[in-house]
Amino acid sequence: MAKISTIGVLTSGGDAPGMNAAIRAVTRAAIYEGWKVMGIYRGYEGLINDDIIEFTSASVSNTIQRGGTILKTARSKEFMTEEGRAKAYENIKKHGIDALIVIGGNGSLAGAQILAQEYDIPCIGLPGTIDNDLYGTDYTIGYDTALNTIVECVDKIRDTATSHDRIFFVEVMGRDAGFLTQNSAIASGAEAAIIPEDMSNIDQLANFIGRGIRKSKNSSIVLVSESPKVGNGGAMYYAERVRKEYPQYDVRVTILGHLQRGGKPSAFDRIIASRMGAASITALKEGQRNVMVGISRDEIVYIPFSRAIKYAKPVAKELIDVLAVLSI
Ligand code: F6P
Repeated sequence: MAKISTIGVLTSGGDAPGMNAAIRAVTRAAIYEGWKVMGIYRGYEGLINDDIIEFTSASVSNTIQRGGTILKTARSKEFMTEEGRAKAYENIKKHGIDALIVIGGNGSLAGAQILAQEYDIPCIGLPGTIDNDLYGTDYTIGYDTALNTIVECVDKIRDTATSHDRIFFVEVMGRDAGFLTQNSAIASGAEAAIIPEDMSNIDQLANFIGRGIRKSKNSSIVLVSESPKVGNGGAMYYAERVRKEYPQYDVRVTILGHLQRGGKPSAFDRIIASRMGAASITALKEGQRNVMVGISRDEIVYIPFSRAIKYAKPVAKELIDVLAVLSI
């Protein structure tokens, strides 16, 4: 195993609260080992364009509580090409980077996997995404904060929904995963959640209306994933259907959008980001490569990129059942 003396760290894909806590942990744990840390700006774009500077312990001072990412982020199209990755590797060599820590979601870790295959550079991934959709880890960095943000918003929406006796369809992020939608529905006492994982052919809207919710309640909140499998997607689709099929109901839509990605990270996100960041350096010391650091049953685990990216992480049926029972 080649000796490591310099690492590079980058954030890639959608920003997530807690990414700064992860950058801080990676930086400080590496410096603690006597290693040099290179901060790479704007994800893989920065690797390609040589947007790289040395990070000291002070570079990450006063950042643990800040949302977003001090390293900035991007979704790099050029890195998807062989030429782009060749340029990136040139800069890795130029700065003497022996290993790379990538903080990001599915696409970002897939990028790390390809780079590691093509250029024999050890890569360690940290799951940084509000979507919580990476296999092998119970939580991703940013998920808990986003969940709390959504619940806070839905609490506010409920005030106006109740006052006007309305049905609100609230659209929640999560790309193709329903964790944010399902769990924020439970936590906010929503009447229903429509998530992409529900592959049954049941018309979820008819199901919700048919349950006679309006008989016992004068207002309802339905959380809808941004890309449910049924219909053509999103809260607008369901609201339109209600307007046409059940015109007796007064319907409104709120799309929470990118406010779900912002804000100070929760204590929970700061803690898991700190633990995972430190663990990424331990992983390198142990000779691990091309794995994602995760937390399972409150213990640090390493999951090969191939599994973390490829395998689907199911939303537990129990969560679906709990919401159905508690929303009567
Ligand atoms: O992966 C995080 C995420 O916020 C998803 O929930 C969402 O689908 C996507 O990023 C939005 O990406 P962008 O900020 O590029 O529009």
